[in-house]
Amino acid sequence: MIPTSIYSKKARIKLLIMTVALVIGASTVIYTNLLVAKLSEREQQLIDLYAKGLRYMNNADINSGNLVFIQEEIIDANRSVPVILTDENEEPIAYKNLTLPQKISKKRENNLLRREIAKMKLQHKPIVVEEPGVFKNYIFYKDSELLTQLRYYPYVQLTVIACLSLIAYYAFSYSRKAEQNRVWVGLAKETAHQLGTPLSSLMAWYEYMKGSPRFDNEPIVEELGKDVRRLEIITERFSNIGSVPILKDEPLKKVVENAIGYLRNRVSQKVAFYIESEFPEETTAKVNIPLFEWVIENICKNAVDAMEGKGSITLRITKSNTKNAIALDIQDTGKGIPKTKQEEVFVPGFTTKKRGWGLGLALARRIIENYHQGRLFVKNSEVGKGTTFRMVLNR
Ligand SMILES: Nc1ncnc2c1ncn2[C@@H]1O[C@H](COP(=O)(O)OP(=O)(O)O)[C@@H](O)[C@H]1O
Ligand SMILES: [Mg+2]
Repeated sequence: MIPTSIYSKKARIKLLIMTVALVIGASTVIYTNLLVAKLSEREQQLIDLYAKGLRYMNNADINSGNLVFIQEEIIDANRSVPVILTDENEEPIAYKNLTLPQKISKKRENNLLRREIAKMKLQHKPIVVEEPGVFKNYIFYKDSELLTQLRYYPYVQLTVIACLSLIAYYAFSYSRKAEQNRVWVGLAKETAHQLGTPLSSLMAWYEYMKGSPRFDNEPIVEELGKDVRRLEIITERFSNIGSVPILKDEPLKKVVENAIGYLRNRVSQKVAFYIESEFPEETTAKVNIPLFEWVIENICKNAVDAMEGKGSITLRITKSNTKNAIALDIQDTGKGIPKTKQEEVFVPGFTTKKRGWGLGLALARRIIENYHQGRLFVKNSEVGKGTTFRMVLNR
């Protein structure tokens, strides 16, 4: 018996990874926001100084020797924050740190500047520089390119990381699935191959005994024949799972009846089987009989186990919500599967039985989903009342 906790362990690891990713993402955003706030404050200071410089220039005596200093050290020092100086009617007078197309008409330049002013207004209130009664100017400004980039940087970075992780995850799970496929297929092929040799020899022996007068009236021969045929079926299953199986349009109800026919004689007489169909007898579905019978057997054997040998199993062919598909419900009156385990039962190795392998449902799902392009799931189940598995097959 393999421990049943693989599935829940996986869920816990997923949760852990998600939490770590969330913490990293959040701290990146918080840290950059801190930087943005600092840089923004500095730009604010720069622009305040700029305004002060302008104010001083306007008030100063033309001959003041400080003018050069203010022009060079304060006004020109702003090399990053885009600013537009306007008159009281918001008509542009001068601008700085804005890249406008070269060689354009004055009118077009004015238009572009006005559009910039509109954008700047959304970000910051303009600074007023005035000498009451003499003049009134506005300084419009916006965040520098560096600051803007920094503001969006963490989101861009996180998006890129998220995309990369997603791609990595899919690549990884694809390669893991491919590996699993090779194991299933390889093992099945090997089994079919190994069974082949003794089986053909057994078949030859059986034919010999059937024809020999020495074994006339011996019931053994008949029984031997049955076992040989059963071995043949098993070999066929393994060989089908080890290759690309051929799907044929088969009358579904007949196929189900045949599959149950074998089981019926091998389980307790207290288990009743019912086969029902909402469709005409001859309605077909695309199946590979050896593999499909294997699925029915696995599900019904589980049902018998769940009922502890007493109860009823109903197989109902019914309509499916999926287009061009047909459903087969297998309902039992067993102990049921709790909600939290209804997906886990399909995980290879999950079992609640002392001597179980936990491969029956994993195999059944593989057969239906990979080989029949259908679906297999727990349709509903109630603890203590019973379970219904649903298979959706293509018509
Ligand atoms: N019809 C059912 N009713 C209740 N439990 C079920 C039923 N079918 C499957 N299970 C649960 O799913 C588990 C896995 O089934 P399976 O993959 O066939 O492995 P195994 O039969 O070897 O345990 C079972 O151990 C059982 O707990
Ligand atoms: Mg089983």
